Amino acid sequence: MCGIVGYVGARQAGPILLEGLRRLEYRGYDSAGIAVQNGHAFAVRKLAGRVNVLAEALARLPLAGTSGIGHTRWATHGAPTERNAHPHVDCRGRVAVVHNGIIENADALRAALERSGHRFGTETDTEVLAHLIEAAPGTTLEERVATALAEVVGTYGIAVMSADEPAKIVVARHGSPVLLGIGEDEFFVASDASAVLAHTRSVVYLDDGDIAVLTADRYHVMDAQAHVQVREVSDIAWDLEAIELGRYPHFMLKEICEQPETVKSTLRGRLLFEEGTARLNGLNLSVEACAGISRIVIVACGTSWHAGLVGRHIIEELARLPVTVEYASEYRSRRQPAIPGTLTLAISQSGETADTLEAMRAAKASGSRVLGIVNVVGSTIAREADGGIYLHAGPEIGVASTKAFTSQIVALTLLALWLGRQRGLSLEMGQEIACQLARLPSHITRALALEPRVRAVAEAYAGRGSFLYLGRGVSFPVALEGALKLKEISYIHAEGYPAAEMKHGPIALIDTDMPVVFVAPRDDVYRKVLSNMQEVKARGGHVIAVTTEGRDDLGTLVDHRLSVPATAPLLSPVLTTIPLQLLAYHLAVVRGCDVDRPRNLAKSVTVE
Ligand code: AGP
Repeated sequence: MCGIVGYVGARQAGPILLEGLRRLEYRGYDSAGIAVQNGHAFAVRKLAGRVNVLAEALARLPLAGTSGIGHTRWATHGAPTERNAHPHVDCRGRVAVVHNGIIENADALRAALERSGHRFGTETDTEVLAHLIEAAPGTTLEERVATALAEVVGTYGIAVMSADEPAKIVVARHGSPVLLGIGEDEFFVASDASAVLAHTRSVVYLDDGDIAVLTADRYHVMDAQAHVQVREVSDIAWDLEAIELGRYPHFMLKEICEQPETVKSTLRGRLLFEEGTARLNGLNLSVEACAGISRIVIVACGTSWHAGLVGRHIIEELARLPVTVEYASEYRSRRQPAIPGTLTLAISQSGETADTLEAMRAAKASGSRVLGIVNVVGSTIAREADGGIYLHAGPEIGVASTKAFTSQIVALTLLALWLGRQRGLSLEMGQEIACQLARLPSHITRALALEPRVRAVAEAYAGRGSFLYLGRGVSFPVALEGALKLKEISYIHAEGYPAAEMKHGPIALIDTDMPVVFVAPRDDVYRKVLSNMQEVKARGGHVIAVTTEGRDDLGTLVDHRLSVPATAPLLSPVLTTIPLQLLAYHLAVVRGCDVDRPRNLAKSVTVE
C-alpha cells in the first residue's frame, strides 16, 4: 500500500505535500517524492528512504509552486530506489503521476509503448501510466487520463499533473482509496483523511470509476461514463490529536494504551441492558433476514483473521450458528458451493485489504449477504458491503494492529448478542453479556497496569531467537495473535499453537532457550492447560503465563505470571491479549526495532 497526496490552491504546495506524506507514511515508507508545478513547468524531487530524507533535501532546495502531487511508497514493482520512487513522468517530462495500486497488464502496455518509441526509465508499473497519458489523444488532461485508464487492468488511486495545464490535478480511483479534501479556495487529494485533517474536515470519498478534476477555484467529479456526479461531502469525525503521537514514543504504544477508550467507543450507544441485546443500526438486516441465516462465514487476514477465530467461539455460543473462518486469500482459491442462508462477515481494520475485499466480492457474487466489520469510515469494504459495524476505534497508525483487534472482538460480540437474542438466547444471558461488555474498559485499564512487569519480561528474554505461544479454546487465537505481534515488530520468530497440539510435535522444540507463553485464563480448559505447562517445565522450558487475577495454583510452575482481571470466558481474549501486545512492543523496543514502521510491512496490504 502507498500513500498519495495532492494540493492545488493559493499556498505553496511543497510544505503541504510533505506534511501530508508524513501523515500517510504508515502506509508505506521505502521511498518518497513530490512534483510541484510552477506555471507551465513542474519540478520533481524524489528519494529512497523515509519522508524525512525528502524533507531535508527540500529544506536545502525548496520547490516553488502552488500545486503539486506527492507519494510515499511500499514497493511492489521494482526495488525501493530513488529511480523507482514516485512521481513518474513521461518521455518529455510533461506529465507526472503518483499511484497507489497495481497495473496488472503493465508489461504488455510497456511493450506496446516501447514499440511505439516510448523510453522508460524505471522498473515500475506506474511509469506506464505516465506514458499512456502522454500518448492518449484529448484536449484536456482529464480526457487523456480517461482514455489512458481505459487500457489499464488493475487497481489504482492516482493523481496526475500536466505541465501544459497549470494548477490542475486529475484524480482517478479504481480499487485503491482516494478522497478529496474540500478547503476554502483550495483542494486536496489523499489516500486517507489523516493527510488533510490539518486543513479541512470536509472530504469527498471517490467511488471506483470516478475521475475528479481539481483547479485552484473549483472541483468536479465524473463517473466512468464522464457524466458529472455530485458526490456527498462528509465530515471527518475525529480530531488531529487522534493521529498525533502526543506523550507516547510510538503510535503502537499509544494505541495499546487507548484501548479502554476505544472499546468504550465501540460499545457507545449499542448496549441495551434492559433488553439484554445490542443496537446495531448499520446492519441492514431485517428480522426476517436474520431468521433466514443458517451459517456464517468470516473472511479476513492477519490480526483480523485472529479476531474472526475469537468471534467464531462467541457467535457459536451466543447465536448457536455454525461459523467457518477463512483466510480471505484462501477462500477465493476454492470453488465453494453457494449455500442459501449464508451470512459473510468481512473483518478489516483498514477496509482496503485486497484479499479481504476480493473474498467479500466473491461471497457476494455467490449470493451471500455480506457485512463489513471495519474501522475506517468510507473504506471500500465498508462501502461495498450490504451493511456492517464500524469499530469507531479512531485511526490506527501503528502498522501492528492492536486496538482494532480488541474492538473487532467487541463488535463481533455485539453482533452475536443481537443475533442470539433473536435466536433463543435468554434475557438473563443477554443482560449478563451486556454487563460484562460494559466492564471491559475498566478491566483493560487494570491489564495495562501490567506494563512494568511485561517490560521486565521483555528485558529478560530479548536475546531469545524463538518463542512459542500456546492457548486452548478461545485463547488459541490469542496465542496466534501474540505470536504475530512479536514476529512483525521485533523480527523474532514466534509460533502460535493449540496448547494440546504441542505434544504432537512442537514439544521437540522445548529446551532452556525456548520461552513458552501460555494464554491461560481460568476457564473450563484451564486445568488442561496447566498439564501442558507441566510438560514444558519438565523439559526445562521457560513458562510465561497470562492468567486471571486472584488465587491460582501456578506455584513454581511458571517463571513469569501476568494476571488480568476476570471476565466472561468468551470475552477473556480482550484482556489476555493486552500483556501480549505490550510484550511484543517492549521486546521490539529493547531490540532497537522501528516499532511503527517495521521492515517490509505496510499498514494495509492493498495488493493481492
Ligand atoms: C496486523 O498487526 C498486521 N498489520 C496485518 O496482519 C493486518 O492485520 C492484516 O494485513 C489485515 O489488515 P486489515 O485488518 O486492515 O484488513
